[in-house]
Parts: sequence; structure tokens; C-alpha cells
Amino acid sequence: MNTLQHQRVVVTGANGGIAQATISRLLEAGADVVVSARNEQKLATVLDSLEGSVEGYVMDLLSPDSIRSFFDQVGAFDHLATPAASSMFAPIRDMNFEQAEQIVSTKQWGQLYSVHYGSRRISEHGSITLFSGTVTQKPIEGSSMFAAVGGATEAAARIWAFELAPLRVNTVVPGIIDTPVWPGLVGADGADSALAAMADVIPVQRVGTPDDVAKAVLFLIDNSFVNGHSLVVDGGHRLI
Ligand SMILES: NC(=O)c1ccc[n+]([C@@H]2O[C@H](COP(=O)([O-])OP(=O)(O)OC[C@H]3O[C@@H](n4cnc5c(N)ncnc54)[C@H](OP(=O)(O)O)[C@@H]3O)[C@@H](O)[C@H]2O)c1
Repeated sequence: MNTLQHQRVVVTGANGGIAQATISRLLEAGADVVVSARNEQKLATVLDSLEGSVEGYVMDLLSPDSIRSFFDQVGAFDHLATPAASSMFAPIRDMNFEQAEQIVSTKQWGQLYSVHYGSRRISEHGSITLFSGTVTQKPIEGSSMFAAVGGATEAAARIWAFELAPLRVNTVVPGIIDTPVWPGLVGADGADSALAAMADVIPVQRVGTPDDVAKAVLFLIDNSFVNGHSLVVDGGHRLI
């Protein structure tokens, strides 16, 4: 039996690389998907590109009011996945603090507010899948803000798994994944060569695809005995 059939699943940041792969997998599994995008134009573009049972609403993670209003519009649902977040790379001495604050606002506070407002509407045996990153376990120069926010998210998720039980709360922990985030982080010209260089050192000899992470998200949503877990999807990168 397909356990995701007609489950109502909310995915944030629908035009993101990992979000798009997750939405495709969910639709394939027969879920009814609810998505968010940052503004009306992005939402319209995303909804035009998707086929299946999809609805969407605007949500800007920089605004707690917008997050509350998003979940008010969504109403009752079964599962939540929160890949939306802004990104930056900078060593501490060169850090642009406005960008650093955006990561904290979108990825840490954004996920926290999403759990706060979203969990009230999730069915009792539903789930929440939050997003961290393997830089919490493997230091990469320039990624201290990702690591700090990801570590905080994983730690909070384990406590929320207690507080919100029987609702389950897990975290997916992606390694280096080839998504539109990379041209933004290292420049459009440098992204391919940066990813190729990283592929050389990752034990499985490649970087991850958005679908590698999407499959992990679906596992966390679907397996009702996995709870309070951080699932690393990094091809073994953290081991070297
Ligand atoms: N890709 C990787 O290598 C990697 C590694 C470790 C962890 N992760 C984590 O995995 C998650 C997804 O990553 P990804 O690579 O798929 O990222 P992505 O392609 O850059 O997508 C990020 C999404 O977040 C949205 N977003 C950014 N700021 C927002 C805001 N203020 N309000 C609402 N939405 C906002 C973006 O919308 P706009 O298009 O409007 O900007 C976009 O839809 C993130 O938490 C990321 O940190 C990724």
C-alpha cells in the first residue's frame, strides 16, 4: 500500500533545488502537496511548472507574520518539510553580517516559526522534516553560519520530537548537493569546477543530486518508527 497517497504534505521554498525534487517524489507517491514561495510571481511560476495535486501560498521566511498567515491558509495537513532557506559562504573575518543574519532568520528562526505555527495543524501521527547540513559534522571553511544554524536545528528537533509526540520530528542533513544554491555561493562561473573538485574527495566520487535528498525526506516522512533522527545524505563526505 502506498502510505503517502492523499496525505497532505507541505514543502517550503518550492523553487529550490531540493524542494523541487521532493515535490516531484511526493506527487509521484500520490501525495497532495502544498507549497510556498517567497512572492506571488515566484509562486505562479512554480505552480505553472507542476502537474498533479498541488496548491500554493506566498510565504517569506523573513516575516513571522507571513509564516503564521501561510499556515493559517494551509489549514490541516499531515507532514511538513522545510528546505527553504537563504545561504552564504564567508570566513568569519570577511563575514557580511546582514547575510549572516538572513541565514539565522530564514533557516533557524524560519524553521522554528514553521514548527511553532505548522505543528498545531499537523495530524496527530504526522511528521516534520527539518533541514541541517553536514557542515555540522565536517568543517568546511566559510560555512560557520550554516554549521551553527544546522547544529541548533538538529538539537532543537530532538527536543521537539519529545514535546510534540506522537508527531515525529526528524532532520535531514545534506552534504554537497548540486542545486541552484552553488552558483549563488561561489559564482556562476565557478560552480561547476567547485562541485567537480568536491566530487573528487567525496568517497562515492560524486556530489549529491537533489533527488538523493528527496528520497531521504520521503523515507523520514513515510517511516512512522523513525523519530528524533538526523539522517546524513553526503556520500560519506563527513568521514574524510
Ligand atoms: N545544496 C546543498 O549543497 C546543501 C547542503 C547542505 C544543506 N543544504 C540545505 O538544504 C536546504 C535546501 O537547499 P537547496 O540547495 O535546495 O537550496 P536552494 O536551491 O537555494 O533553495 C532555497 C529556497 O529557499 C528559498 N528562500 C530563500 N530565502 C527565503 C525567504 N526569505 N523566504 C522564503 N523562501 C526563501 C529560495 O527562494 P528564492 O528563489 O525566492 O530565493 C529557494 O526556494 C537548505 O536548508 C540548505 O541550507 C543544502
